[in-house]
Amino acid sequence: MKLKTILTAMVIAGCGVSAVIAADDPVKVREGLMKQVGGSMGALAGIAKGEKPYDAEIVKTALTTISTNIKAFPDQFPAGSEANSEASPKIWESMDDFKAKAAKLGADTDMALAQLPADQAGVGAALGVIGKNCGDCHQAYRIKK
Ligand code: HEC
Repeated sequence: MKLKTILTAMVIAGCGVSAVIAADDPVKVREGLMKQVGGSMGALAGIAKGEKPYDAEIVKTALTTISTNIKAFPDQFPAGSEANSEASPKIWESMDDFKAKAAKLGADTDMALAQLPADQAGVGAALGVIGKNCGDCHQAYRIKK
């Protein structure tokens, strides 16, 4: 009876551990980071197109999310983690260039944060500069599965 209780406790504890590992799955983490980057770009695009009113707080939050996420992004590519993801094997062959592309997006975003776009046109201009980075990296390092 007592042993059974201990075993049950171990099983429960074990489940907890595997749940943590799943959350730390680098593919899930990096896709989650990119999803938020995409959502933030969507929020900025809505303002740039005039579908949403200009809101400095929303602009700042979106830019901060892109900046924070793209800095964490290149660390989510341990060797052998290309399976079941849209990450191209070229990332691991050209890790320095891949990291440089991420850093470029980070720098462009930080520049926009330092001089926060003050109106719809400003958001549009920032979006143009920042948005170029997405395609540059995706073309080289993202494959459609
Ligand atoms: C340094 C390279 C790089 C840059 C810069 C970059 N991406 Fe990505 N992005 C990737 C890679 C690689 C993947 C595929 C990740 C995977 O599946 O493991 C990806 C995936 C995505 C996804 C799909 C996420 C999912 O649900 O699986 C979205 C959305 C996305 N990127 C949006 C953006 C936007 C918007 C920008 C520009 C603001 C951007 N990315 C800039 C490399 C980059």
